[in-house]
Amino acid sequence: MTRLYTMDKPDDRNRLDAMAQGIIGRPLDRPDGSAKTSGVAPYAAEYKIADCAEGVLVLATISRGEVVEIESAPVLAMAGVLAVIADPRMITRSAQGGAGKSPVREIHKVDYFGQPVALVVAETFEQARDAATRLRIAYRADDPAKVPLESENGHASHEPFGEPVQQGNLDAAMRDAVHAVDVTYTTEGHASAAMEPHASIAEWDGNTLTAHSSLQMLKYNQKELADALGLKPEQVRLIAPYVGGGFGSKLGISAELTAAAVAAIELGRPVRVVMSRQQVFQTVMRRSETRQRIRLAADAEGRLDGFGHEAWVSNLPGEKFAEPVTQASEFLYRGEHRTLRIDLARIHRMTAGSVRAPGEAVGMQCLEAAMDELALASGIDPVELRLRNIPEQHPSEGLPYSSRRLAECLKVGAERFGWDGSDRRPLQRREGEWWVGTGMASATRVHNLNEAQAKVTLSTDGTAIVESDMTDIGTGTYVILGQIVGEMLGLPPEKVLVQLGDTRYPPGSGSGGSWGAASTGSAVLVACEAIREQLAQQLGVEEADLTLKDGEAITGNRRIPFTELLKTDLTETGHFKNGGIDEQFAIAMYGAFFVEVGVNAYTGETRVRRMTGAFGLGRALNAKTATSQCLGGMVWGIGSALTEELVFDPRDGHLVNHDLAEYHVPVNADVPALDVVLVDERDPAGSPLQAKGVGELGICGAAGAIANAIYHACGVRVRSFPITPDKLLEQLPEV
Ligand code: MOS
Repeated sequence: MTRLYTMDKPDDRNRLDAMAQGIIGRPLDRPDGSAKTSGVAPYAAEYKIADCAEGVLVLATISRGEVVEIESAPVLAMAGVLAVIADPRMITRSAQGGAGKSPVREIHKVDYFGQPVALVVAETFEQARDAATRLRIAYRADDPAKVPLESENGHASHEPFGEPVQQGNLDAAMRDAVHAVDVTYTTEGHASAAMEPHASIAEWDGNTLTAHSSLQMLKYNQKELADALGLKPEQVRLIAPYVGGGFGSKLGISAELTAAAVAAIELGRPVRVVMSRQQVFQTVMRRSETRQRIRLAADAEGRLDGFGHEAWVSNLPGEKFAEPVTQASEFLYRGEHRTLRIDLARIHRMTAGSVRAPGEAVGMQCLEAAMDELALASGIDPVELRLRNIPEQHPSEGLPYSSRRLAECLKVGAERFGWDGSDRRPLQRREGEWWVGTGMASATRVHNLNEAQAKVTLSTDGTAIVESDMTDIGTGTYVILGQIVGEMLGLPPEKVLVQLGDTRYPPGSGSGGSWGAASTGSAVLVACEAIREQLAQQLGVEEADLTLKDGEAITGNRRIPFTELLKTDLTETGHFKNGGIDEQFAIAMYGAFFVEVGVNAYTGETRVRRMTGAFGLGRALNAKTATSQCLGGMVWGIGSALTEELVFDPRDGHLVNHDLAEYHVPVNADVPALDVVLVDERDPAGSPLQAKGVGELGICGAAGAIANAIYHACGVRVRSFPITPDKLLEQLPEV
């Protein structure tokens, strides 16, 4: 049976804390961990499939125009080459994981440098790669790429995106303010930079297309691929039990999957297509560069009367996504007079899409740097400034907040870090060659919920199985879903098997937007409640009076093992839906960052020396995986602050730094020991688990704290991220 749960009001029942097993929240290891670290877990490209041909994508070498001719004949004559394919079904989508809604990039029409235009298939990978490099393609090229966001006139076009927030009179508030900040920050484009490249193996049996692929959102991806191929969704099976990171880049299907699928159908044999690292960088969606004007109008005590956040971002023509830079600005701080607005420039670079906390990641880092500027202007401790600006209710929608631990995170983080906000003047501490300073920032990320189903079976042998097409992209889904079942059904974790990543299972929420744990976890909870009711019925008691622990049902003075109690397996499917809870409450996760940096007085090099993050994210389902998510976010924050930037050649629009050597994500040498504290919280509006999202919170604001620490260290305010040594050197004091 399927049990539907619609989240249309807060769930105060707090089921998980009332259970007896005592494993929810514990820092259990991930059951997939040793398989991954020992190399046993197969990733998409690693399946051994008999008679599998190898495909290599060919990418466009112009940034705008059309393919006129593909000279296939010479390449087809090469040893082992089976086909050169440029089939109209090999479309790419905007990669947002929304089938049918997103615009399609056609294979013959070039919209950006690096867009896939053909697939070469051969018996071996080496043959295919050799042939792909020799394939000659004639183009008709249109105008060269436009340089975005440089000046108001430099745009190809420039249009408002979405509904701006326009409330009161910000200009007047700025004029009347005792302390005012009006600053413009910029951020460069980012790559998702998942470790596992995009890879697919497709097989066609004449009716069903089966693909091993690296994806985040299987139920949507299934529809997308079916739509691309002209099949019914049930004719497509996707398998992705292990995914080596996604960070947004695998929300939707990518070119290698449609190409592998078309080739498999054409050739009648399995085809594998793996993007090279350079291809991943060039064709998979990026985070937009941004230009953000922030205006803060405060009274003598630092209380905000006016709040402005206006951003320019970019995307390809026709795309329906714009980096939602102002998302956190809508609810984080007070300010009656508000202007929030996003403008979209249409440019010819690879699709801009969701990358690691779309919106907040780059929006918060600029806002929090601007808040630091206000703290300096007003002489108020930055922590205190933020505490004074926590709104009573949502500043424009008037909604109440659900559980919100911002103030506590600010205080707990400051305490752990040893924050001293009494004197924020820069250039005060010098250690050898290094200027040393501290900085802080708030964190917040909106809480998203997504529809999800999961099937739970309690077997007569006293074990349980969970099945969902949900993915685990390295986040810990396997372990937390097992913990929810173990807690609800009274089973130790080793008695629960979690099976994910196959569209043959009920459709989960997929992984994205930090919604996975709360959404699919709630579907699992609902299924377990239905099973508990069946057990209670068999025992003739109320479900609420039933204690399940260590494989036994305990009621009154009876204690019966499941192996005796169950005559047949009990199977229930939980179906979780958001019923508009987010229209009743402003629901978000919160936190605070505290950082110490050293800036080299001679070279301008910045080293993060220590960093504390305090987070309130609702119930942590597993203390270890939740902490790890926050650690990962803080590491990305270091990248966003100091090193990560996509560099495009203005002459032809090609991406210059298209590998992990030149696009620098933080490595061990860049990252000090990081300190994460999870502030205890239950949010009844977050989910029936009273959990909220975890995955993206740790990046949201982190880079702002680093920028603020750099200013405190050396007195240089860099308003263009990343803060590379050259930008600091220009302004460092003489030594
Ligand atoms: Mo995410 S960047 O919504 O996978």
